[in-house]
Order: sequence, then C-alpha cells, then structure tokens
Amino acid sequence: MNIVVVGAQWGDEGKGKVIDVLTDEADILVRYQGGHNAGHTVIVDGQEFIFHLIPSGLLHPGKVGLIGNGVVIDPEALLDEMGRLAARHVDLERAVKISDQAHVIFPYHKRLDLLEEGRRAGRIGTTGRGIGPCYVDKVARCGIRVADLCNPHVFADKLRQNVEEKNRLFAALYQEPPIAYDTLHERYSGYARRLAPHVVNGSRFLQEALRQHKRLLFEGAQGTLLDIDHGTYPYVTSSNATAGGACTGAGVPPTVINRVLGVVKAYTTRVGEGPLPTEFPPGLMDRVRTKGKEFGATTGRPRRCGWFDAVVARHAVWLNGCQSVAVTKLDVLDDMETIQICVGYQHSGRAIAEFPSDIELFAHCEPVYESLPGWQTETGEAASFADLPVQAQQYLRRLEQLLGVPICLISTGSRREQAFKTRHW
Ligand code: GDP
Ligand code: IMO
Ligand code: MG
Repeated sequence: MNIVVVGAQWGDEGKGKVIDVLTDEADILVRYQGGHNAGHTVIVDGQEFIFHLIPSGLLHPGKVGLIGNGVVIDPEALLDEMGRLAARHVDLERAVKISDQAHVIFPYHKRLDLLEEGRRAGRIGTTGRGIGPCYVDKVARCGIRVADLCNPHVFADKLRQNVEEKNRLFAALYQEPPIAYDTLHERYSGYARRLAPHVVNGSRFLQEALRQHKRLLFEGAQGTLLDIDHGTYPYVTSSNATAGGACTGAGVPPTVINRVLGVVKAYTTRVGEGPLPTEFPPGLMDRVRTKGKEFGATTGRPRRCGWFDAVVARHAVWLNGCQSVAVTKLDVLDDMETIQICVGYQHSGRAIAEFPSDIELFAHCEPVYESLPGWQTETGEAASFADLPVQAQQYLRRLEQLLGVPICLISTGSRREQAFKTRHW
C-alpha cells in the first residue's frame, strides 16, 4: 500500500503528527515538494521535533527518507536540520536520501524573496526562505540541481552565470550590492561534499524499492489551498502541494498510489496573507490561537484562525482524490459553547457553493454558517469514536456528510498517543 498524506486546508493541519502515527505502515517516506518553508511537528515522550526538509516519519528507527526531485533544498538548512537531529540521537547518516534532480536554493534566492515581498503591491507573506525564486529559476531553466552541484565543472559554470545575472538584477532593480561568486562557490562546494553520500537518482531509488515490495508514504508539505495551481492564487506557495504533485515531485507513475489521506484541522488556520472567509473576530481568535498554540512552526508568526470551511475542504477532497480524511486538533474546540461550520458562501446576494477561482470574489465571500452545539468536555484522553462526547460525534459526522468521505483518524492532542483510528481506517 502506497499512501499520499496531503494537507486539505492552508497548511499546518497536523500532517507531521499524522505521518508519525502512520509510519508503522510505511518503509520509505518521501517529501515531494516545497522546501524548508514547511514545519512539521512531532511530539514524542514530551520532546518536540520540528521537521523542515527531512520527512517526519524518520523518528522511527529503520525507516528511510527521500527528499524528492520536486523539493527545493537549501543545503545549509538541510545540514543544520540533520545536525540538530543527530544531536538528539536521531541518526540519519544512512536514512536520508536526496534526489539528484532536486533544485538547490542559494542566498540570492532568499534575498530576492525578501526584496520582491517589499516591492509587491499586495504582499504574500512568504516565509522568506527563497522558495519562490528557486522555483522560478527551475521553470526558467537556469536553476542548479543537486546533480549540477555535485559536478564541479557544471557547478562552476552554472553558478557563474546565475551570479552574474542576479547581480545585474540586484543593481538595476533594487540598487543592492552584488554577491561575490568566489565565497559562494567555495561554500556550496563544501556542502556538495557533505551531501554527496546521500545523493541518489530518486525515481530509480523508488522503482527499486517498489520492486522489493517496500511501502511508500508521500508526505505533502503546505496544503491544497496553497497549491500553485489550485490554491488561492497568488496567495500560495510555488509548488504543487496537492496529491498529484507526488508523482511529478518524486518520479513515480500515478498507478503506484493506492491511497490518498487528506488531513484537516477541526477548524481552519492560515499563516501569511490572502483571503480567509471564516476568520474569527479578535476575541475568539485569541482564544483559539492560545488554546491551539497557533504560531508558525517555521517562522513563529501567529496563525490566523477561523471556523471549519467545508467548501474549501470539499474542494481539497475532490482535487486530491482523498478516500478518507484525518481530523486533528478536535480538543482545541473542547470548551466551545457552539461551533460553526461554513457550508457555503454568499456574494452580492448570490449563493456560492463551490470554491471560486476569482480571488477578488473569494475575498468578498461571506460564509454561510451552520451552528452545532459544543461538547464542553475534554477529549484528550479519548481512545475511540465511542469515547467522544455525543456532540463531538455529531460534529464529526456532519463533517463527513459535507466532505462526502469518512473520517479514518482523529487526533485530540499533540502527543503521539493522542490519536486513534476509526472503523473507516
Ligand atoms: P503540519 O505542518 O501540518 O505538520 O502542522 P504543524 O506541525 O505546523 O502544526 C500543527 C500543530 O498542532 C503542531 O504544534 C502540533 O504539535 C499540534 N497538533 C497536532 N495535532 C494536534 C491535536 O490533535 N491537538 C492539539 N492540541 N495539537 C495538535
Ligand atoms: P507546512 O508544510 C503554512 C505559506 C506562507 C505564505 C505562502 C508562500 O508546515 O504546512 P513561501 O515561503 O512558500 O513562498 O510562502 O505559503 N506557507 C505555509 N503556510 N504551512 C506551511 O507549511 C507553509 N509553507 C508556506 O506563509 O503565505
Ligand atoms: Mg507546519
């Protein structure tokens, strides 16, 4: 069984936690897009681990993780992450593989990311990690891949061209000082030597693993509404976070994927700019943000919170082909008197049932809510669906109806043990 786990909202749905719980059912964990803009949290024995580029399942010994061709890699961030995990006795020397076709992030990408944000009329609120500019170079066919980085002649040539071009841009458009080729070349040649033992042909690596009947788990980063094609463009990230991205971003055919599991929070959050129709008013915002500890795992920015948006989540279920969903952070709603679910929108007196492509229209959509009673009981110790208060069961059943797929996993706390599978697993 090969599974894709994908965020069905705006990221931070709790994918890291769900993947950690699922890892028993996989041998190889694959990241297929995004970069160190991702922050996936796993809490084991009271210790918090935040994964950025390394697949979240690697806390389990004996697993192998592949950083696929669709990922953009900042070598410094990756080596730092590996170092930090090694210091906490997570040995990744043989566990981490890196696709030779993944693109490499350079300091000029990060600088461009920040400069472009400053220049843009409408900010996106990027993580400032150089993700977008690196994907721009990939599509413009001037990017530097891991294979290029590891070939001294190709690397020297490509880096020189890129540095020249970026320096022209820095001077002409931003009146910024140039970056020096020599120091950059030396620094990245050092990274190449350190990363070389991990580098593989990603697609062939997975082909061979499948021949040996290994089970693959594809770990989506970000979320469906941040997908470059299907999200709230332009307030999105620069890669295909949806399940389809697993094929192009890992180098496997669609036919190897057996199952797609969407992850949703019991409410909605988003970090960065862009419309969020169900966004809470200030009082409720503070309450949920505090209870849910809704601060970015990568940048520490406060996340914007709102009620569950069934229009958005249904759109995600369809796009990803989710056969079931995992619901996380149910416990954060424990003390609510009433809970709202957005079941549609209103715009200029017109009912809108489907997620619209027109971002201006979406920004002015008023949610149509359905109210359900809260349960006002703690759910953190629940070990089965039957253990949940009846109002929580009602809430979850209503989500299933609205999404059209069953809930197969429920998480009621951040610890590894605080999750249980349902009969729909
Ligand atoms: P990801 O990017 O989708 O992996 O999600 P993040 O790790 O960025 O954010 C999810 C946050 O919620 C993390 O701090 C998790 O520890 C936490 N979390 C995950 N599941 C639950 C849950 O069921 N209840 C609570 N209270 N916290 C959870
Ligand atoms: P995980 O994998 C939430 C958001 C940023 C910004 C937009 C573009 O932890 O769910 P980028 O730096 O990617 O160009 O920023 O995307 N964003 C995320 N939001 N979770 C993430 O990752 C995110 N990765 C990027 O806040 O709005
Ligand atoms: Mg996150």
